[in-house]
Amino acid sequence: MEQQYIEITNERYRLGYHVMAKSGWINDPNGFVYFKGYYHIFYQHYPYSAEWGPMHWGHARSKDLIHWETLPIALTPGSKEDKDGCFSGTAIVKDDILYLVYTGHHYYEGDDNPNHFWQNQNLAYSTDGVNFIKYKDNPIISKPPEDNTHHFRDPKVWEHNSKYYQLIGSQANDGLGRVILYVSENLIEWEYLGEIDHAQSEEKEGFMWECPDLFHLNGKDILLCSPQGISPQKTQFLNLYNTGYFLGDFDYKEAEFNRNSKLIELDKGHDFYAAQTLLAPDGRRILIGWMAMWENEMPEQKDGWSGALTLPRELVLNGNQMFMKPIKEVNSLRKYMSHNKKFQLNEIYSISDVTEHSEIDLDISIRNKDSYFNIYFKDNQKISFLTLEYSNNNFILTSTDTDDQRYAKSNLTDNIEIRIFIDKSSIEIFINDGEVVFTERYYVEGDPIVQIEGSNDIIVHETVYELENNAVKY
Ligand code: FRU
Repeated sequence: MEQQYIEITNERYRLGYHVMAKSGWINDPNGFVYFKGYYHIFYQHYPYSAEWGPMHWGHARSKDLIHWETLPIALTPGSKEDKDGCFSGTAIVKDDILYLVYTGHHYYEGDDNPNHFWQNQNLAYSTDGVNFIKYKDNPIISKPPEDNTHHFRDPKVWEHNSKYYQLIGSQANDGLGRVILYVSENLIEWEYLGEIDHAQSEEKEGFMWECPDLFHLNGKDILLCSPQGISPQKTQFLNLYNTGYFLGDFDYKEAEFNRNSKLIELDKGHDFYAAQTLLAPDGRRILIGWMAMWENEMPEQKDGWSGALTLPRELVLNGNQMFMKPIKEVNSLRKYMSHNKKFQLNEIYSISDVTEHSEIDLDISIRNKDSYFNIYFKDNQKISFLTLEYSNNNFILTSTDTDDQRYAKSNLTDNIEIRIFIDKSSIEIFINDGEVVFTERYYVEGDPIVQIEGSNDIIVHETVYELENNAVKY
């Protein structure tokens, strides 16, 4: 009997302007690419239930990175080379053809331990950007190098000086995360170049590096990856797994990444992972991530779906830190300005006209070093579900249900600009043009109440916009 896609039974948490699946499960974004006038995003997807299962590649395209059209599933597992899943990967355009490079996931016959698996790398292609054919001689890389374990996945492919490079997330035989590199002239035959970087310890850098990416930004090379297994430190790396980056220089001749920074955590919220980037035709480096975290509670599973992608964010290197600011196209989501007001804080102030699909821009002038403010997000019973506190250059975000805190520091202080994007069950907070970003899911019904209080020398200029709530077509 043919399996039926799961159905949505309740719309209460469905987002209005973030990419989700029509129904079913989503995790990592995959194959972020620009092809024949459209941006394409794919995602790890299981359409038959709201839980993770044999991975498909879901697919959507957009002309402006904001208004998306869902397309048929691009990759379905079950071929010999991807029997138990089409795991994460990349898309790349060559000679007017769109190629997908992805990991084939395999369990051993008759062994039901999910940790016993092997992985290879495969190719699929399309001329119209809608229908994909798997390459007939897959796999293109059949097994990991000798000094690797079975963790061998999430290829990122790019072109440099007429050659193609493929970076693969992996684990070395010493049990530490690393990334390894291959080179090709045709996307089909790949030569192993070796390891380009390796975790220094499991505690600090993890046992497996998932979803690697390597790109040039404002004169530096950035190695982005999603390490598993980092031990939580006081105020950072507090999620189960983390996405972060190293700054450095990549030497193509020696195939070596010479890092000159520690691993820097990218987003400070509870719900962010497995990000990947795209170089837009206009030169911007744009990132998108999975707006969730493995093993977090996902109440929408009861409603027949789970997971979404973040808003696309432009990466900008500022000194030794990457800022993530909402791409400028997000302004096209604004239906109208509901509110624009300047005031001095003296008592708790409720920001009016906030709905389930709002952008709140706050320009906060801090006049004393010891000034502080708190922003509360409350449900319609006035019970707070999230708070953001600021004092002494530090932000603390608390998820009130669990009293679980996340921390960030800001170096820019006289004037704090905060842009908050609310989308029914998600909140993304961008501080100082992306210096600090918190990505959160929340689960309350109805319009949230947003309030601000703080020291009375603070002047706030607030603007509230009503945003579109059907930017993605399913
Ligand atoms: C990251 C990840 C990838 C893998 C995919 C499987 O979240 O574990 O390493 O390819 O998800 O769905």
